[in-house]
Amino acid sequence: MNCIAKLVFASLVGAGLFAGMNVQAAQKPAAASKPGKAAIASSHQLATDAGLEILAKGGNAFDAAIAVGAALAVVEPESSGLGGGGFFLLHRVKDGKDIFIDAREAAPAASRSELWADADGKLDSDKATNGPLSAGIPGEPAAYVWLAEHYGKLPLKASLAPAIRIAREGFSVYSRLHRSIDRRSAVLSRWPASVQLYLVDGKAPEAGSTWRNPDIANTLERIARHGNDGFYRGEFASKLVDSVRASGGIWTLEDLDSYVVKERAPITLNYRGWKILTAPPPSSGGIVLGEMLNMLAGYDLAKLDQVHRVHLSVEAMRRAYRDRAEYLGDPDYVEMPINELLSPLYAAGLRASIHPEKATPSDLLPGYMPPGEPEHTTHYSIIDADGNMASVTKTVNLTLGSGFVVEGTGFVLNDEMDDFALLPGQANAFGLVGGEANAPKAGRRPLSSMTPSMVIGEDRVGVIGTPGGSRIITMVLEGILAFIDGDLPEKVVANPRFHHQYLPDVVSAEPKMFSRETIRALQAMGHIVNESERTWGLMNMVSWDRKTNTLHAGSDPREEMSSAKVQP
Ligand code: DON
Repeated sequence: MNCIAKLVFASLVGAGLFAGMNVQAAQKPAAASKPGKAAIASSHQLATDAGLEILAKGGNAFDAAIAVGAALAVVEPESSGLGGGGFFLLHRVKDGKDIFIDAREAAPAASRSELWADADGKLDSDKATNGPLSAGIPGEPAAYVWLAEHYGKLPLKASLAPAIRIAREGFSVYSRLHRSIDRRSAVLSRWPASVQLYLVDGKAPEAGSTWRNPDIANTLERIARHGNDGFYRGEFASKLVDSVRASGGIWTLEDLDSYVVKERAPITLNYRGWKILTAPPPSSGGIVLGEMLNMLAGYDLAKLDQVHRVHLSVEAMRRAYRDRAEYLGDPDYVEMPINELLSPLYAAGLRASIHPEKATPSDLLPGYMPPGEPEHTTHYSIIDADGNMASVTKTVNLTLGSGFVVEGTGFVLNDEMDDFALLPGQANAFGLVGGEANAPKAGRRPLSSMTPSMVIGEDRVGVIGTPGGSRIITMVLEGILAFIDGDLPEKVVANPRFHHQYLPDVVSAEPKMFSRETIRALQAMGHIVNESERTWGLMNMVSWDRKTNTLHAGSDPREEMSSAKVQP
C-alpha cells in the first residue's frame, strides 16, 4: 500500500489535476420503459438461436443465459463448457437489482504450489495446463442451477432443452473447432476418453462433418433432473473423482460437494456521466478497467489526436496492469485495497506520473508481468423484451481446457489452475505472474481477466464482453469508450484494437489499427509498437437506445460463426 499512499499524496499536492474530471448529474427518466423485443449476440448461431427459442417460450434473459451458455458448451467446447466456469453479470428490471454470479472454478483442497513444480523447482507448464492436475472444480453446472432457481421463469429442463437437442442431433464442425482440436490433438491423444470424444481416426473431425455428443446430452439431462446433485454428488461425482485421481489429479468428493456459486456485488464505475457495471474479484477486470477509466477521465480524449489518445490510453493500461500483478486475487482469502485502487484520488496520482508526450518505461514501475496470450473463452450478451440484461463470459481456460475427458461425460475439464500464480513470480500461459495474493490454496478461485460488463447512460445501454486472456480488459475498455463516443455494437465489435499490459513494455496493435505516421509518432514518444501478426478477441455486444427504442446487436467479424440477432 505504500506506493498507493505516496501516489494519493502526490495527487493531493497537485490538486489542479481534478479539473478534467467530469461526472455528470443524475440521469433523465428513460424514454422507453422496455424494448419490447430482444437482442442476443454470441459466438455461434445455434447458441443465439437457442436463446431466442427460450425467450419465445416465455423465458426471460436469465433463462436465455442458460440456454445460450449450455448450447455453447455443446458447440464451442474449445472455449467453455460444463467442465469450466464463468461470470454472469445480470440486471433485473423488476427491482433494478444488479447481480454478479461468480461461477469460477475452485482449487481442490489438496492444492500446494509444489505439485506444479518440476525437479528444479520451475513451473511445469505441462502439469499446469494439460491433464487433470490442471483442472479446478467446475462452476458452470452450478451456475445454471442457480440461475434457474433464483432468476429464471422456466424450469432448468426447459432452458437446457435446446442444448440437449443440438448435442443429440449433431451440428456441423466449423473451421475454428476443427483447428482447435487439431492444435490440441497430441494432448487429447493421451487419454482414451478424450480420443473417443474429440478425434476421428486419431485426427480432428473435418470441417463440415456432423458432430454429435450424446454423452453431454445425458450429463445435461442429469443436471436438469437432479440439479447440483446430478453433477457434484453421488454416482456422477464419484466417476469424476475416480477418473481424475487415476490420471494424476487431486480432486476429492468433498471438493465437489462443497462447490458453490457466489453472488457478489458488481463493481460500479462512473465515467463522464456513464455508469458501468462490471466484474469484481476474483476477476481483475473491473478493477483494472476502473483504474484505466479513472485515469482517462482526466483527459478530454475526444479532443485529442489519435496519437495522444493512444499514448494516454497505453500509459493508463500500463499502470493498471501493474497493480493487477501486485494486489489482486480471490476476495474470500486475500485482502485487497479495492477502494483505494478505484479512488479518483489514486487515479489522479497515477495520472500525475504520465508524461503527456513521453512513454514511461515499464521497468521504472515496481513489479513484474511479462508477455503471452493464447485464444479461447466465450462471451455473450442478452437484452430481453422487458429490458433484463445478461453479460456472460465463461471459459475452460486454454483451447479445450486440460484436454482431459472423464469417460462418458461428454465434456473436457478446464485447465484453470494455470490462472493461479502456481509458483510465485513464474509466468503462466498468458505471461502473467503473481504472488501470494493469487497462490493456489484450498478452495481459492484463480484470478481472472474476464470482464463481462454493462454500460449505462442517459439514453443508451450496452452489454459487452469478450474472450482474449490478458487482452480482455483493454478490449472492453476500448469497446466502452467507442460506445460512449456513439459507435453502435456492430462497429464496436469490429473496431481495430491495441493493447499494453505493463510487461512486456510493448504496444501491440492489430494489423489495421495504426497508420505509418501514427506508429512513427508513437515511437518518437518512446513507445515500442508491435503491429501484431494477428487479430484478437471475439466480442459480442448488444445495445438498447431508450430514446428511439431501438436494439442493436454486434458480433465479432473476426470469427466465422459469431451471430448477433435482434428480434423482428
Ligand atoms: O479467466 C481468465 O482470465 C482466463 N482463464 C481467460 C482465458 C481466455 O480468455 C483464453 N482466450 N481467449
